[in-house]
Amino acid sequence: MNFIPYGKQLLDKDDIDAVVQTLNSDYLTTGPKVIAFEDALSEYCNVTFTIAVANGTAALHLASLVLLNKGDKVLTTPNSFLATSNAILYAEAVPVFIDISEDGNIDLDLCEEALKKDSSIKAIYAVAFSGRMLDQVKLKYLKKTYNVSILEDCAHAIGAKDGTIKAASCINSDVSILSFHPVKHMTTGEGGAITTNSKELYEKMLILRGHGMVKTSEMKPWEYEMRELGFNYRITDMQCALGLSQLSKLDSFIKRRIELVKAYDKAFEGTIVNSLYTYDGKSSYHLYVVLVDFSTLSITKEHLFNELREKDIGIQLHYIPINKQPYYKSLGYGDEITPIMNKYYEECFSLPMFPKLRNEEQEYIIKTLFQVLNGQLK
Ligand SMILES: Cc1ncc(COP(=O)(O)O)c(C=O)c1O
Repeated sequence: MNFIPYGKQLLDKDDIDAVVQTLNSDYLTTGPKVIAFEDALSEYCNVTFTIAVANGTAALHLASLVLLNKGDKVLTTPNSFLATSNAILYAEAVPVFIDISEDGNIDLDLCEEALKKDSSIKAIYAVAFSGRMLDQVKLKYLKKTYNVSILEDCAHAIGAKDGTIKAASCINSDVSILSFHPVKHMTTGEGGAITTNSKELYEKMLILRGHGMVKTSEMKPWEYEMRELGFNYRITDMQCALGLSQLSKLDSFIKRRIELVKAYDKAFEGTIVNSLYTYDGKSSYHLYVVLVDFSTLSITKEHLFNELREKDIGIQLHYIPINKQPYYKSLGYGDEITPIMNKYYEECFSLPMFPKLRNEEQEYIIKTLFQVLNGQLK
């Protein structure tokens, strides 16, 4: 058995051909494939505007520059990759970490409590963790009642749906972001995108993607104007050619993920391994997270990680609470009251989940996990 990672891309010959075709074209950086990819993403996510960028972190950075002002308080989750709250800091705003609910997403009821107490809170940065849609009814209510900006970090969630509402459609948020890192649902190598239904936000972020530079038809042929302090967060035409090819297969990738989810759900039902949530159609399953109460076992989580890795199974942990990271502690964070996140962090780990995972590999993972755990029951 070769080493099984927790996530991995699925590339076929048609993906490679698409990139080679672009390499043979006149455009390597921003060309027709960037626009075509943005249009295809807008259509897929059911949103008006998409800006493809160098990576998901760049997407978060640009979104934060247009949504936030210096000193703004932003409610966010400790259960994410560092990039989500780092982007709040890039904009010189102030992350406020809120506990999660049982499904791993930020607790929107606790967000409401915070909003009631503090009218200076300006935004919510919510992550559709593991691919699970945020509660859209509650998002809509919070936006309307408290007039806050909402960013949905959908880096895990492209392809997820709640009824007719698709991830990154920004029906109840101002901006969403996507990531196309190879462990995600579809890849462009590095890559990301911002989606929005606001023309104003779109135009601002588009300018910021390219050095804050503007060139209009009224200008002299050589002229350009820098109107903002922007960045080079462009994505290449080769990456977008790959993205277009991957996007055309995304639904089949998600279909395979759901088959794997159902097999994991079935294997863990009524056992000491608890699925974070079982299949209900509201997630596109970037991750399959399970919870185990290690106090009932005579091994630690570290021991489990080491044993499974020795057996070529690459379990992972999503996530270490961001507010407990040394950098955040140096800013005064770390003592927030987050009992659900703390318990979750003690119990959680993620099992391999990617469309290329074969049934026999999944059976091996399940069998080996139970062998290790059942041998250690107190
Ligand atoms: C929830 C979340 N947001 C943002 C990012 C940043 O995306 P990227 O790695 O493309 O910069 C990631 C990446 O892992 C992520 O998991």
